[in-house]
Order: sequence, then C-alpha cells, then structure tokens
Amino acid sequence: MENKITINTDIVEGKINKNIYGHFAEHLGRGIYEGLWVGEDSSIPNTNGIRNDVLEALKKLDIPVLRWPGGCFADEYHWKDGVGPRSNRKRMVNTHWGGVVENNHFGTHEFMMLCDMLGAEPYINGNVGSGTVQEMSEWVEYMTFDGESPMANWRRENGKKDPWKLKYFGVGNENWGCGGNMRPEYYADLYRRYQTYVRNYADNQIYRIAGGANVDDYHWTEVLMREAHHLMDGLSLHYYVHPGGFWNKGQAVNFKEEEWDITMQKTLYMDELITKHSTIMDKYDPEKRIGMIIDEWGAWYDVEPGTNPGFLYQQNTIRDAVIAGVHFNIFHQHHDRVQMANIAQMVNVIQSVILTEQDKMILTPTYHVFEMYKVHQDAEKIALNIDTNTIQKNGQSYPHISASASKKDDTVHISLCNLDKEQSASLSVDLRGMEVNKVNGRILTANEMNAINTFENPENVSPTEFTEYKQVGNHLNIELPSKSIVVLSIKP
Ligand code: AHR
Repeated sequence: MENKITINTDIVEGKINKNIYGHFAEHLGRGIYEGLWVGEDSSIPNTNGIRNDVLEALKKLDIPVLRWPGGCFADEYHWKDGVGPRSNRKRMVNTHWGGVVENNHFGTHEFMMLCDMLGAEPYINGNVGSGTVQEMSEWVEYMTFDGESPMANWRRENGKKDPWKLKYFGVGNENWGCGGNMRPEYYADLYRRYQTYVRNYADNQIYRIAGGANVDDYHWTEVLMREAHHLMDGLSLHYYVHPGGFWNKGQAVNFKEEEWDITMQKTLYMDELITKHSTIMDKYDPEKRIGMIIDEWGAWYDVEPGTNPGFLYQQNTIRDAVIAGVHFNIFHQHHDRVQMANIAQMVNVIQSVILTEQDKMILTPTYHVFEMYKVHQDAEKIALNIDTNTIQKNGQSYPHISASASKKDDTVHISLCNLDKEQSASLSVDLRGMEVNKVNGRILTANEMNAINTFENPENVSPTEFTEYKQVGNHLNIELPSKSIVVLSIKP
C-alpha cells in the first residue's frame, strides 16, 4: 500500500513552542568540562573559557533554552561553591557521576554567560534533595534581585552589577530517585514549601517547574497535580529509550538488527506516555495552563567501551537521528500540552549533538536533525492526516513513516521520518489550502543502520539535498529512503 498524507495548510491547530528544541547540560563526565568549558588559559581556542568550535556549532541550532546544572547533580549542588574568584572555589567530589573532582569553575556566572552567548533562555534546576529552602531562595535573590540585599550585593562584588533575567526554575529533579527517594505525597508538600520562597523580584516572573514522574509513574503525576497544581507552571516528565532495558541498555553502535526495531517501538512509547500523563493533568488543569516539561529525553545506551562508566559517553548513529526526528514529531502532535523538551545531553553525554576529543569536535547525526527541524520553532502547527503502512519485524510493530507539518511566514515545512532500516517508502502528499510553487528538501540518511561520524570522518552522516520527489500541482510523490529524515520546504 502507498503511504498517504493530507495536509490542510489553512487549518492551524496551535503553536509549536520553540522550547521543545531545548537542551540539557549537567556536570557529568565531559559534558561541561572539556565539552563546553575549557577555561580562559586553555590552548583550545575559547571565548571567556567557552570553547569556540562548540560555541559556533551550537549557535547554528538557535537553541531556545538550556537546563543546568542537573539532573542528579542538581540535588547535590550548592550554588555558593560556584561563585566568586575561581581560584577560591571549593573543590568537591561529584559523587553521582564518576566520583571525580568538581572544581566549581563553571558556576552561575559562567552558565549565564554561556546562555547569553547562545541566545538561549537559562533554565536553572534548584536543589531540594540536599539543599535548604534558604539556599534555594538566596540563589534566586542572587540572580534576579536589583535592590540592596546580601545576595544582590554579593553578586555585584562578583562582577555582575545588574541582575539577570531568569524565567525557568526547576524545584528539584527526580525526587522519586536520586533527588531524595521521596514519595509523591512528601515531595508535593516540599514542592509547595520550597516554591513559596522562589520569589518574583520586580518584573522577573519565574515559571516554576515541579519535579515530575519517571516514565509511566502515573500515580506521581496524579498526586502532584492534586496537591500542587495551583502552585506550578510546569510539571516535568523523564523518559529515556533503552533498547535493552535500564540495567543492560544495549550498544550505541554495534547493535543487532532486532535492537533497531525494539528502539523504534520504544521511541514511539513517548506518545503513549504524553497522552496518559496529559489526561491526568487535564483533570486538574483542563485549560492546559500547566506545561508538560520533558526536560530529559533521548536514547541512553551502554558507554563506549573503555570509557568511564560514570561519564555516560556514547556514540551517535543514524538510528539516533531517526529517534530525534520521531520525538519531535510526537512533541509537535502534543503542542497544546508539551511546552518544553530538553535533550539529554548537549555535549559528550548520552544522546549528544556534539562529541569532542581534546581540541577536536564532531557534529552527530542528532545535531543535524536539530538543525533541519529548527524551522518548526514557534511555527504554527497545521493539520496533517497520515495513513501509513506498519512495519512488523522481530516481534515489534511500528509505523513506516512519522510526519509533522507547520507553517511560518507562508512557508510550509513538512518533516518526515522513515523508521524502517531496510525498505524505502512511497509516499503521496496532498497539500490543501495553498498553491504549491517552490519545493526544496534536505535529507539525512546513511547506507548502514549504525553509520556514525568520527573524528577521522566527521561528515559521514550529514544532510544533503533531497530530490526524490515529483510535484504535480498540489500533489507530491515522494520516495523516502530507508532510515531517513527529510524536511521539505514548500512556498506558494
Ligand atoms: O541525564 C542523566 C541522568 O538521568 C540525570 O542526571 C538524571 O536526572 C536522570 O536519571
């Protein structure tokens, strides 16, 4: 059967929040240190300590928002250790991630500077698990208060006269696990208490994000919404794709054919999770005021052989690119509830967009998907109906094609993923409500299901022009290669 898509370009369903294209950078492995921060005295070319090659590559993604400092690290982080002259900063142990020394050289000022360089909104995650209410409250005061106060004065002494603008603040992370092993009833009460002292100074309005559920813990969402919905702006959700399960995740590159199929199936599970958690949120928030904040997502495999198991360093294949494309299409579909998503993580950790090795850097296949899809940021989601074949392999079943469409300034963008690793897909697209005049396309694909970019061959998987389509009036006949991601740009 031929796959069919109908797009009604004049039926606007809502806006795709650009924050869906957000990132996450934790003090973990070589994510911050080496990946982003090399220090001003490094031989690696840098601007105020941030490496130039990574910075320039990240700028091209138009990153809307960046979450920091964790993750599990957030609930062990004491922000006061990371301000003031760097030579005086406390050296501590990063107990959660590899037991290495954390010298606190990358702290609040450095993070805010990075966000500024990237043009990204900062999203700071506070410490509930091992921090006090006072500590959290003072961090917000330090960053955002303009008047006379101990924290604002200290910020000025540390070289920042004016307060920063800070919108997104997370009150704890994974408090059901590394953030304190709490029950939802207990965390809900702590959330209510801690968030009270996350103050809005002057016109700085904070969007408060409560720590949400792990995967399918619907009870957590139910309790948090029941007890605290009136005090939150966002509720998080974490879900990682582990082809082999949490304890034996599977390999990033040398995986078997059936692992591809399992991975696709597990990627699509995100749709079910969002739907079910949303249904619970709808009960307490039918107007959908509260955003679902998927502030950790991605494919998480076993670490690369020979690397520190606590550093979570993994390679990235064309499979990861398909995973990213499918996730974005799902997030678009749930544009009314999903207001932010942050891939885990930005550089050198889990499903990264960039990998580094000393002074060398490569862009991963996932990077290219972020770059190709950025046209959807803050665009109008338009109605798309898809009739696709089902792939059935190795006991798994999933759609051959995933798709999404949006409109910005009269240009329509269609993103298409072929989830199958072997078969191309014939696809017919009908565009209604516009005259199709100019069509352009880009494709990311590879011959092998585990194709990667390496430091020796950095361009192995990179986007090229897509020409496998025929236009007849408002109709497109497309041949979508196996394991591919295509973004079409259609102008009237
Ligand atoms: O992203 C790695 C870890 O995964 C984060 O620190 C934690 O929040 C999650 O379990």
